[in-house]
Amino acid sequence: MLYPPGVYRAESDTELLSDVVRRGDHARGRDVLDIGSGGGALALAAARAGARSVTAVDLSLRSVAATWLNSRLARVPVRVRRGDLFGPVAGRRFGLVLSNPPYVPAATSDLPRHRKARCWDAGPDGRALLDRICAGVADVLTADGTVLLVHSGVCDAEATVTALHRVGLQAREIARVTVPFGPVMHARAQLLESRGFVAPGQRSEELVVVEGRRDDG
Ligand SMILES: C[S@@+](CC[C@H](N)C(=O)[O-])C[C@H]1O[C@@H](n2cnc3c(N)ncnc32)[C@H](O)[C@@H]1O
Repeated sequence: MLYPPGVYRAESDTELLSDVVRRGDHARGRDVLDIGSGGGALALAAARAGARSVTAVDLSLRSVAATWLNSRLARVPVRVRRGDLFGPVAGRRFGLVLSNPPYVPAATSDLPRHRKARCWDAGPDGRALLDRICAGVADVLTADGTVLLVHSGVCDAEATVTALHRVGLQAREIARVTVPFGPVMHARAQLLESRGFVAPGQRSEELVVVEGRRDDG
């Protein structure tokens, strides 16, 4: 995989969600949407897990280019679109939506417009992108569609479950692992402590995967 400067390099969160997709056979035969594709690791994992089609969306031009390049290098067909969350796929429906969105609590509610911080900064509670994804995802899921979201436990897995219930999905946490802080969380440790997101001295976090299912019977 190639990761040009400014593109999110696949991390433990990417690996956890890829693993869930593979083990749960979630992608087989489905049209899959990867929101916030970065270098395309999740899109490629879905394609390799037997997806019927894969569409990847990212706001960043560099990430769009990286997903396109990595999918071509891997000889895996991925449609790549640039834009904000579901905007580029308006009117389409998917059997599986995947996202590893920005979720790190930041000092302010201003979302970065440029540079790498856009990969992780997500407002004071880390939920700026997560809440938008939860609010909009039911509109892009097929009647039996599933969404799988990975994020840190510091931004509240229960809030994600509740937000998915609110739009009529059956939702539950399906995976959780503890990992040491990576460089971004380390750099934010004092802010996270001062806001009560982590205990004093805590330098590990839990990563969670939350599943939401549409079941329109
Ligand atoms: C944590 S990275 C995940 C990258 C990749 N999916 C992975 O797991 O390795 C989050 C990605 O979301 C993208 N992003 C941020 N805001 C977005 C938005 N409003 N719409 C679409 N993508 C966005 C960032 O550019 C970044 O590539």
